[in-house]
Amino acid sequence: MDLPKLTDLDVTGKKVLLRLDLDCDPDPDDLRIKASEETLDYLKEKGAEIIILAHRGRPDGKVNEGLSLASFQPIFDKWGAKVEENLRFDIGEESNDPEFAKKLASLGDCYINDAFASSHREHASIVGLPKLLPHVAGIHFMREVENLSKVFENPEHPVVVLISGIKKDKLEMIKPLEEIADRVLVGGRLPEFLGDAALESVRSQNGKVIIGNLVMDKEDITLNTIDRFTKEIKLAKTIVLAGVLGKYEDEGHRMGTEKIFSAVADSNTFKIVGGGDSLEAVRMLHLEDKFSWISVGGGAMLEFLSKKTLPGIEVLTT
Ligand code: 3PG
Repeated sequence: MDLPKLTDLDVTGKKVLLRLDLDCDPDPDDLRIKASEETLDYLKEKGAEIIILAHRGRPDGKVNEGLSLASFQPIFDKWGAKVEENLRFDIGEESNDPEFAKKLASLGDCYINDAFASSHREHASIVGLPKLLPHVAGIHFMREVENLSKVFENPEHPVVVLISGIKKDKLEMIKPLEEIADRVLVGGRLPEFLGDAALESVRSQNGKVIIGNLVMDKEDITLNTIDRFTKEIKLAKTIVLAGVLGKYEDEGHRMGTEKIFSAVADSNTFKIVGGGDSLEAVRMLHLEDKFSWISVGGGAMLEFLSKKTLPGIEVLTT
């Protein structure tokens, strides 16, 4: 893939608009924040003035103090970077309003996208802004593309994709992922979101999709489902783990996530894990060193794997 890279851009003394993934807690050890460090180091060394653009949560175009990015500022002081407020406080971000994109462009001289996890969104800071300024991909962004591409470029079979978590829009990815996967396992809250009719139609297609069962309060997968998924993981040669299996932050609902994440981590496969909650779970279970690649993207990772590109990638190549 012909993505323009950081070294292609003259950033010395320039005001650089750096789009990052800060949809996480303001914790310097958070893997999304750590993922931005290499690009930040490079820019500081080159003497760039860094202006960080990011979103947090889904505030729907309204100011929501609980989702402010102000608490992230101290983390980025060490690079002398300025963190702008949550882009999604302005309705123009999600609607990709050209006026909002222009307003953002007026803040800098050039644009770097190091926000892979947000690059499936056709939002102003992802697809509008790069059309207005010289643009390149950040260092972590390049690595995401390189590592995730291994899943569809001559992977070892069987390829098993586990889609999980609480974001309903992930359901749309089941069908497209059947193209690259031999098995698609569905867990977390997602089985609950599939109505009975949809559930049957997904199940009966070709046997590739296995829908997990949930415990009574719907906050974890059942023991039978843990067994079923573990069997598939043991047969796999390539695994993509996208989402936590239950409400892992509660000890009583951690078993599905703990067992499945550990089974993947222990498997002798090419194994990828991705998504905001998954990254938290990986840290909590101390599995950081066990994966072939840890992607910051949840929905973005799945969309990239099924479409082999993203809106935020397309715009960088033009
Ligand atoms: C993520 O957490 O996957 C990204 O921040 C994208 O968030 P979104 O699903 O709210 O667009």
